Amino acid sequence: MNRIDKELVEGLHHVTLVTSSERVNRIFYTEVMGLRRVKLSVNQDDILHRHLFYGDEKGSSGSVITFFEWPHLVSGRHGLGSPHHLAYAVKSIEALRKWAEWLKRNSVPVSGPHIVGDRASIYIRDPDGFLLELAAETGGEVDAAVLREIFAEEVEVDRITPDMRLSLMDHASPIATDSTLLERFLSKTLGLRRVATRENPHDPSSPILGFGSGDQDFLRYILKPSAQMGFVGIGNIHHIAVRVKGEEEQREVMSVLNSIGIRHSGIIDRFWFKSLYFRDPFGNLLEVATEGPGYTVDEPPESLGEKLILPPWLEPERRRIEEALRLLDERYPAKWPPTYRPAPEKPERVE
Ligand SMILES: [Fe+2]
Ligand SMILES: [Fe+2]
Repeated sequence: MNRIDKELVEGLHHVTLVTSSERVNRIFYTEVMGLRRVKLSVNQDDILHRHLFYGDEKGSSGSVITFFEWPHLVSGRHGLGSPHHLAYAVKSIEALRKWAEWLKRNSVPVSGPHIVGDRASIYIRDPDGFLLELAAETGGEVDAAVLREIFAEEVEVDRITPDMRLSLMDHASPIATDSTLLERFLSKTLGLRRVATRENPHDPSSPILGFGSGDQDFLRYILKPSAQMGFVGIGNIHHIAVRVKGEEEQREVMSVLNSIGIRHSGIIDRFWFKSLYFRDPFGNLLEVATEGPGYTVDEPPESLGEKLILPPWLEPERRRIEEALRLLDERYPAKWPPTYRPAPEKPERVE
């Protein structure tokens, strides 16, 4: 097979970043962002460092943001190979307004609201400096003036209310330099279509190219022909995983990659799902992950993420791993609350 000719990718599965501190990261993503930790484990390719997973109550695929804890790294920089930002979907403009208030209350500087295409968005930086967007669909009915009015209204928010809960990622935004190459690559290898091309209000020379299936464009590449290489470090996306049903679909993607000579990892059993990794032509690391079996395969749903879980093949190493993690915490003590860097005034712009 030399191309995928059907809609095989269903959306995002998870997005993985790099953090400097398990403790600061946990407090921020659970208490400030209201996600649940759904797995506490180690990086299977670097077993003496943690891998943290946060998502909705069940850890549904499409809701999960994960982190490799690598406190010894330097901060990264977005660019080619190091994606720009990630957006979570917020259910309504009113909920977005409440988020802005809640974040300010937690001393997190907020940029926005902004209108980007069909979304109203606010942007923040997490404690490691990663740019995170919260985006609500406008249905095309809300312009900047209406949005400003809504945001000018006083609102009292002393907790994350049910309507504010984050349960789905909206899009991830890597950077590309060539739209023709990008379109051919994503269509051939993943069967993704260019669903929309949007003007970038923060940089008219860098349109936002939305790729997806159905009418959802969950990969919103920022096209910047002059983009420089970035590098992945603390506060950056390490890789973006899209979701397929099962291993059969993964094997289809693998056979296309083989037929066009693109290096890949082969299918790797991650225990909670299976993974296949490869890079797009701009150096961004992509993963194709299976829907299941999911995070409840080795822990009861009511206590997900509470204790260190190792896949069965790492269980014999548990003592060595726990000791290494303890030393890591001692060596890199964490500080809460963090000092947040403000999000840029023009957040969708590639610097
Ligand atoms: Fe965005
Ligand atoms: Fe992954």
